Amino acid sequence: MSFEWKDRYSLNIPEIDEQHKRLFEIGYHAYNLAMLNDGYDHYDEIMTIVDELLDYVKYHFEYEEKLLEKYNYSKFVSHCNEHNFYIDKIAHISGDKVDADQQKAILDILNFLSEWISNHILITDRQYANELREKGFIK
Ligand SMILES: [Fe+2]
Ligand SMILES: [Fe+2]
Repeated sequence: MSFEWKDRYSLNIPEIDEQHKRLFEIGYHAYNLAMLNDGYDHYDEIMTIVDELLDYVKYHFEYEEKLLEKYNYSKFVSHCNEHNFYIDKIAHISGDKVDADQQKAILDILNFLSEWISNHILITDRQYANELREKGFIK
């Protein structure tokens, strides 16, 4: 996955799409770093990506959860559980693990971001967009 945004990723909810695009940007940055594989020290850059992801989930997941709560989304709890799974994953990327094997750490992050995009953004997020649209809460 090259982390290039495509129209088919859009939920047609402008604010959410903008937030999702930010995740693709972080992924693109991580992808470029992994492709370097030049043996140089990229510890700080990897940890910057981890920090960006933590900030991102805090903002984006809270935003989505408020929206879903406001409209009484039928799968609210399971949606939040998925969010918590990703938060937990990011919280477990420690400086020690990155230090022990930087290339492995960045590849793990890439796999995890690909999984997040294909299973959460493309499937689970789409489900709430469909329901909110069917109920007439969004256009
Ligand atoms: Fe999302
Ligand atoms: Fe979500």
